[in-house]
Amino acid sequence: MKIAVLGAGNMGASMLGGMFRSGLVKPADVTATVRSPERAVAMRKKLGIKVTAGGNRAAAAGADVVVIAVKPGTVPKVVEEISTALKPGQILLSLAAALPITVIEKRLQAPMAVFRAMPNIPVVVEEGAIALCANAEATKAQWETVTTLFRAVGVVCKVDEDMMDAVTALSGSGPAYVYLMIEAMIAGGVKMGLSREIATRLAEQTVLGAAKHVRESGLHPAILRDEVITPGGTTIIAMHELERNGLRSTLISAIESATRHAKEKARALVESIDQR
Ligand SMILES: NC(=O)c1ccc[n+]([C@@H]2O[C@H](COP(=O)([O-])OP(=O)(O)OC[C@H]3O[C@@H](n4cnc5c(N)ncnc54)[C@H](OP(=O)(O)O)[C@@H]3O)[C@@H](O)[C@H]2O)c1
Repeated sequence: MKIAVLGAGNMGASMLGGMFRSGLVKPADVTATVRSPERAVAMRKKLGIKVTAGGNRAAAAGADVVVIAVKPGTVPKVVEEISTALKPGQILLSLAAALPITVIEKRLQAPMAVFRAMPNIPVVVEEGAIALCANAEATKAQWETVTTLFRAVGVVCKVDEDMMDAVTALSGSGPAYVYLMIEAMIAGGVKMGLSREIATRLAEQTVLGAAKHVRESGLHPAILRDEVITPGGTTIIAMHELERNGLRSTLISAIESATRHAKEKARALVESIDQR
């Protein structure tokens, strides 16, 4: 399978790195593009793949899967640039946040499979959370191809496109919420006299272990939480503090506000593209 990554910046390069490490994709089968020649040289060295500054049409023409990883506002221009080089049967895969599939479809010469993905940054350690949707042209086999690609760098969920703003708020921005929690747990440990190093190891492993426990047990987190609460014990004292200070409803509100913001941003992006 030949892959072209148009705009191999942070996200495009992170995904490729994970796919190479998994062995699913071979560097020889990938062509990438960036904007500046300096970046092309740097990316060539970093990933060991063919990277060109510009050259989107040539890269797209020779690929089975064309990944569009430029900034959302640049996507229409890139799609217009490659549209006459695309062939039926190819897969177009956009990573652009907030950009609806219809914006891409309007710029195509003929109908084709267009996927939209919302990955998050832990794809760099092959533990990303990736939400996927696609237009009606996407076949079962193409869904399988795209899902397999993303499985190399994380967990894949199929969603309706109108849920992408909620996905952005939950898993797209979510790593930042968890980093904040880890940071606060480290600070709590340090405040209570643990060395920074030990507090960091314990906090990060606690979050990793708890997440794995939720996944592997298949139980609701509230059940697992109850299991570690001893009557009159330490955990219930801490839980009371967290509930009193509204940790749970703060997180719910954070995701609600972020979803609303993502929706507004998407609307503004489409309006600005339409006015061009
Ligand atoms: N970063 C995240 O956590 C994240 C999460 C989910 C989705 N996304 C989406 O992923 C996309 C990329 O984000 P990013 O953070 O990776 O941005 P980025 O690091 O700025 O990468 C964008 C890349 O596009 C290249 N580029 C710009 N114009 C181009 C053109 N006309 N042709 C070919 N390449 C071009 C840039 O080249 P130069 O380097 O030479 O300027 C740069 O390497 C965005 O649409 C974003 O919404 C990102």
